[in-house]
Amino acid sequence: MQFTIKPLVTDKLRTQCLVLPVQAGKLSPTGTAVDGRLDKALTAALKSGDLAKKAGSTLLLRNSGAIGRVVLVSVGDSDEVSEKQYQDATRAALRTVMGTGAAEATVCLQEVGVAQRELRWRLAQAVLITRELAYRFDQFKSSKEGKPAHLAEVVFAVPKEDAAAAKVEVERMQALADGIDLTKDLGNLPANVCNPAYLADQARRLARRFKLKCDVLEQKQMASLKMGAFLAVGQGSVNPPKMVVLHYNGGSAKQAPVVLVGKGVTFDTGGISLKDPAAMDEMKYDMCGAGTVLGVVQAVAQMKLKVNLVGVIAAAENMPSGTATRPGDIVTTMSGQTVEILNTDAEGRLVLCDALTYVERFKPAAVVDIATLTGACVVALGHHHAGLFSPSDALADRLSTAGKDMNDTCWRMPLDDAYQESLRSPFADMGNIGGRAGGAVTAACFLSRFAKSYQWAHLDIAGVAWKSGTNKGASGRPVGLLTRYLMDQAG
Ligand code: BES
Ligand code: MN
Ligand code: ZN
Repeated sequence: MQFTIKPLVTDKLRTQCLVLPVQAGKLSPTGTAVDGRLDKALTAALKSGDLAKKAGSTLLLRNSGAIGRVVLVSVGDSDEVSEKQYQDATRAALRTVMGTGAAEATVCLQEVGVAQRELRWRLAQAVLITRELAYRFDQFKSSKEGKPAHLAEVVFAVPKEDAAAAKVEVERMQALADGIDLTKDLGNLPANVCNPAYLADQARRLARRFKLKCDVLEQKQMASLKMGAFLAVGQGSVNPPKMVVLHYNGGSAKQAPVVLVGKGVTFDTGGISLKDPAAMDEMKYDMCGAGTVLGVVQAVAQMKLKVNLVGVIAAAENMPSGTATRPGDIVTTMSGQTVEILNTDAEGRLVLCDALTYVERFKPAAVVDIATLTGACVVALGHHHAGLFSPSDALADRLSTAGKDMNDTCWRMPLDDAYQESLRSPFADMGNIGGRAGGAVTAACFLSRFAKSYQWAHLDIAGVAWKSGTNKGASGRPVGLLTRYLMDQAG
């Protein structure tokens, strides 16, 4: 699907499908102009009362001539349009467009003002929502259900003076949507396909396509680096663990890189501390942190952002077997700190802690790890916000702001020393679990012990990386949050 920007000329407008917002019963400027060309057919339709006032109500009108169809969409009944009303209206309108045979549509929704949000934001949301509606994961279906998407081109008609800036943003959001799609695909793939070697191959593919440097550390190299915790997670599986390091250099050579570290547990059975079978299939999504890193690297490379970025993936499969780690086993991490593995299901922190030590060598400006780390985070925050943990107010604020902008939000959680005590072990420097209480916080506390030499934040995405139920599927979060953060860094 292609998105294009065209300067608005209402008298010559030709389109297969025109999307027009209706705010408090009134047409937008383009709507009014087009209404004149259509013998006031739009005014008549509105008078008939066929368009409900609630944001997201739509009315499809078929015409003949230069404007094949009109989709009227309500953005609500008040003078101010909220972000949610705008998003609901966009989603409903584009869904209606996709339900027609139109191959091309011209969208004027961005003509309505949204409280505190400039044109850039309105266009970005429109692109991302449209691409979300167009996403399919049906590569394993023998027969492709649902309508094939006819819609090949979406045109945003914007005032001439805004066209240049709009073009830049829309191109960037297409790159972001491509990254989000990659992250979704990787998450949705079953674990018999998407194993650590597959993730490494995908990273190599990205490296070839965008001319990036890519290192894949094999088990042997990880052993010589003394990554005892990381290796312990993978040792029960026939699929060996891998650590992938991707370098994107869009900034100056002396600029310190931002490092992203993704949890890439391609399947989490819990290991010997075996999980409950209910919904265990969803543990194929336990690599969504890694998928996020690949999605962000792709988006940033495609945008050619002026930043230096290192993407790291800690990939392993957590399986029970005769070679698996036992509860009570003690391992030595790359940092030298020892860990008593009291629960083999708390494996994410074990792969991440060694990756966090490894990335010290890049002298990072900031490190953000992304992990489906704890069920406790889902209990605490539900499925709306990711958990954000950071000792740095500045970094936490930047990430929060980026998340709000992209409707990919996170919520700051505590990380103070009081929680560290629960990680005490009688035999090693620490255990790998705290108690049941504050599980998301104690997991973050564990990671913090390995992230002392740089600015660091941790995103627990257990509640937001995928949806369960009938519409099961990866969300592509928090690719938007992190990419916007990097766009802001690039200035
Ligand atoms: N991958 C899981 C966390 C998870 C569970 C994410 C359910 C999304 C949905 C993680 O490896 C895990 O098993 N965590 C344990 C930690 C506990 C043993 C301290 C958990 O959350 O139960
Ligand atoms: Mn686990
Ligand atoms: Zn896990």
